[in-house]
Amino acid sequence: MNNDFYAVIGNPISHSKSPRIHSLFARQTGEAVEYTAIQAPLDDFAATVRDFFRQGGQGLNVTVPFKEQAWSLAERRTPEAEKAGAANTLFVDANGLLTADNTDGKGLVTDLTRNHQVALHGRRILVLGAGGAVRGVLGPLIAAQPAAITLANRTVSKAQALADLFRADAGEVELSACGFEAPNEAFDVIINGTSASLQGDLPPLSPNVIGADTVVYDMMYSLTTTTFNQWALDQGATRVLDGLGMLVEQAAESFRIWRGIRPETAAVMDELRND
Ligand code: ATR
Repeated sequence: MNNDFYAVIGNPISHSKSPRIHSLFARQTGEAVEYTAIQAPLDDFAATVRDFFRQGGQGLNVTVPFKEQAWSLAERRTPEAEKAGAANTLFVDANGLLTADNTDGKGLVTDLTRNHQVALHGRRILVLGAGGAVRGVLGPLIAAQPAAITLANRTVSKAQALADLFRADAGEVELSACGFEAPNEAFDVIINGTSASLQGDLPPLSPNVIGADTVVYDMMYSLTTTTFNQWALDQGATRVLDGLGMLVEQAAESFRIWRGIRPETAAVMDELRND
């Protein structure tokens, strides 16, 4: 049997764990899937995508810096992708339309609630950042029905704009925006969606946001404790989680969209931690 072809597309791409994750999924499920990494030229994303599908490719994951372009390029978007303003999953649907989906938010919520048994319903969540990464996860976070989501960002106007964008979807969820210095009491869950640590920076938060039971989640991952999680530990946090689980869960969701079968993720996460 011939394999079906999939890939992750980004720039740079050599660091991506997606080929490893999807090859583990393929082995586990017995699906005839081959998954590679494609570095698209920064000024030629659209042509690279079209070539991939013209040559028989079945599906793409999209990563930095092309998620917004993938969203624009698509002829059809799922509701999740529509609201996220960015796509991490592309495929051609039964009608031949290039379709965009976004599985990042589902990946985050699945990792928190299923893998780590962190309840979100009725809880108070502090989300740091207001860029594409945060926009991509807000829909599924709201759908988990926390009591409140506070969006804190360096540029307060961007947090405000994001809160306004999701206000209509928020329902009972209290959605507010502020700067990093404003929050001054303990949250149940804190999610870091800034890219501050890439510059070795920390958002200037009050230590009071960390309570004895606060769960801290950094959407970044690294082999050692992330800069943000180390800060949280230094303030007395006892549960800090990184984004490896989110990465594996968003991949599993893409695999399900493409193949109709959802891989088991726990064993794959163990393998990646041991790589
Ligand atoms: P991404 O796709 O990773 O979300 P982005 O859209 O550029 O990338 O957003 C980056 C986020 O990290 C923003 O919230 C940004 O804050 P601003 O909106 O004020 O730019 C935040 N960020 C980046 N560098 C930061 C730093 N050094 N300190 C604090 N926040 C930072």
